[in-house]
Parts: sequence; C-alpha cells; structure tokens
Amino acid sequence: MMGVTASAPAKVILFGEHFVVYGEPAIVLAIDKRAYAKAEKREDKKLCLRSANLKLAVGIENGNFKIEEGDVKEVKMKFEPVKAAVEKVLELYGENVGLDVEIKSTVPVAAGLGFTAAVVAAVTAATGALLNVRMPKEEVFRITYEVEKTVHGTPSGIHPAISIFGGTLLFQMDTGFKPLEVKTDIPLVIGDTGVERSTRVQVEKVREVTERYPHIMEPLKRAAREIVLKAVEAFKENSLETLGELMNINHGLLYSIGVSDESLEWLINTAQKAGALGAKLTGAGGGGCMIALAKTERLENVFNSIQRAGGRPFIARKTDEGVRIEPT
Ligand code: PMV
Repeated sequence: MMGVTASAPAKVILFGEHFVVYGEPAIVLAIDKRAYAKAEKREDKKLCLRSANLKLAVGIENGNFKIEEGDVKEVKMKFEPVKAAVEKVLELYGENVGLDVEIKSTVPVAAGLGFTAAVVAAVTAATGALLNVRMPKEEVFRITYEVEKTVHGTPSGIHPAISIFGGTLLFQMDTGFKPLEVKTDIPLVIGDTGVERSTRVQVEKVREVTERYPHIMEPLKRAAREIVLKAVEAFKENSLETLGELMNINHGLLYSIGVSDESLEWLINTAQKAGALGAKLTGAGGGGCMIALAKTERLENVFNSIQRAGGRPFIARKTDEGVRIEPT
C-alpha cells in the first residue's frame, strides 16, 4: 500500500509572543519552510517513527519505546507528540492499525519556528488521509492543539492555528484568529542562534515575573497590545519602516521580561547595524531564532552580517498554504 504525505508550514511570530499567553493579540506569519510526514500502514500493530534528517528512529509497541537511532531523551522529546497525534487520530476514527511514519523537516528544531506544531499537524493530516477520512482543518487544529498542551503546558494555540491555516493571522486567545490581508512582501532574514531552548521553561519564567511584579506587567501588556494594533495599521499602509520600528519596541518589551539572551542580543544588534529596519527575537526566546526585517536591497547585507556573527541565517518568504496533503 502506498503511503500518504502531508506537510505544514513553520511560522514566525512578528509581534506579541508571550503577551499572547495573557490574552493579548499577536501577529503570526507562515513561512516557506515546511515539515513533512509520510504515513504508511504496517502488517503488524507497531508504530514506527523515523526521521532521517533528525537521525532518530523508534519502534513503539504497547506503549514501550524501542530506540533504533538517537538518544532516548531526544527521541522521546521529539516523538512523544507524534505518537500522541497518531493515537488521537486512530482513536477518533476507531482504527487499530500499525503505522510507519517518516518525518522530514526543513524547520530548525526547538528554535521558535513552530517545529512541533508543523510536525504534529502534518502527521495528523497524513494519518487521517491514510485512513481515507476527510478531516476538516478544524479537526486537525483540535488534535494539534490538544497535543501541544501536553508538550507546552499552557500554550496560546497560536502554533496550531498558523500551521493549519497558513497566511498571516491576527491571533487572540479568547477571540481566535482573523486572517490579515498583507499585500506587501515582508522581506525577512531569520537568524538561528543554534541555542536550543524549551518553550515551557520560557513561558514559566514569564509567569514568575508576572506573579512577582503584576503592576509592572500590566502596562507592558498594554504596550504589547498597542504594538499589535499599530502593526495592523502599518500592514494596511504597507509601511515596512513602521513595522521595523514596532519590532524594535516589541523586542525591548521581551528583553525587559527576561526572555532574550546573549546569543539573541548579539544577532539582533548585528542585524540592526547592517541596516535592518527592525529586529527582534521570535517565539519563546532564550536562544532559538531572531528575525530581521529589511528592504530587499539590504537583505543580503543583513544575511551576511548574521552569518559572520556566528548565526545561521536564512531568508524567509510568507506562504498562504497551511497544512496540505502532498501529491503522490
Ligand atoms: O518558541 P515557540 O515557537 O514555541 O513560540 C512560543 C510562543 C509563546 O507565545 C511564548 C507561547 C505560546 O504558546 O504562544
């Protein structure tokens, strides 16, 4: 039997990370880096998960992990969400089959680009398609969000939303998301510090700061909200300059709540010196990735300067395509 491949995009949070967990709005953009999952039925009841590019492989039978490649801790960290997604889909449709799932990703892992959500969304969609069910995107979203909760504790839901629906979204926890029409190109350089970090730990850090200094956090949250509202206007006016300025202010807020680190500051300063219109950390911070917005003619300069500073840069374009089944 032929397998089914599905894919889902990575993302960058342009504005509002962390504050979004406290009900403030955020803006998130799907980028042209995708995670791919290929699902195939097996003759037995085993679940075999493998990723050649992550160098990880495991066979799971009756809940027991038999590691075939990679370190136990890493296999569990990266593959527990995949296992959970497959199990939820099988349970939902009353199936009890064994599967081979192969993950391929061009998304840096644990770097703030939504790797987990992209992988889980792709695995969920591929498993559903393999069972010959037409899963509505809302169902893929529900399962991806449930799985994310088991990984991150109190996630806002921004990751599953963007991986599944793509485009540029204005996201808020209580009202959900609204697609933003973005006519202009958003030329971004993403710089990976190479420092892996945990979203759960970073979110917890902010929770502690919030509990210690509630009266200081309040105006910071209001400022974060204003930044997002101004950014929505700047998108309407196609004003990259304003967006860049707002990114710098947003980064200042993130720095003040303790989620930046030396590796991010280094790349952000470098990008600003190389002529970026604005630069900030993206996602949970504490390592991971930064983003720099630059006019097209300055992109290469910003890219080269991030590389010289020891970061791993790549140029990202926005994509409208959320989760999708790939042609066979
Ligand atoms: O670094 P990431 O891709 O896991 O993004 C985390 C974004 C937060 O706002 C910090 C958490 C969330 O669930 O929204």
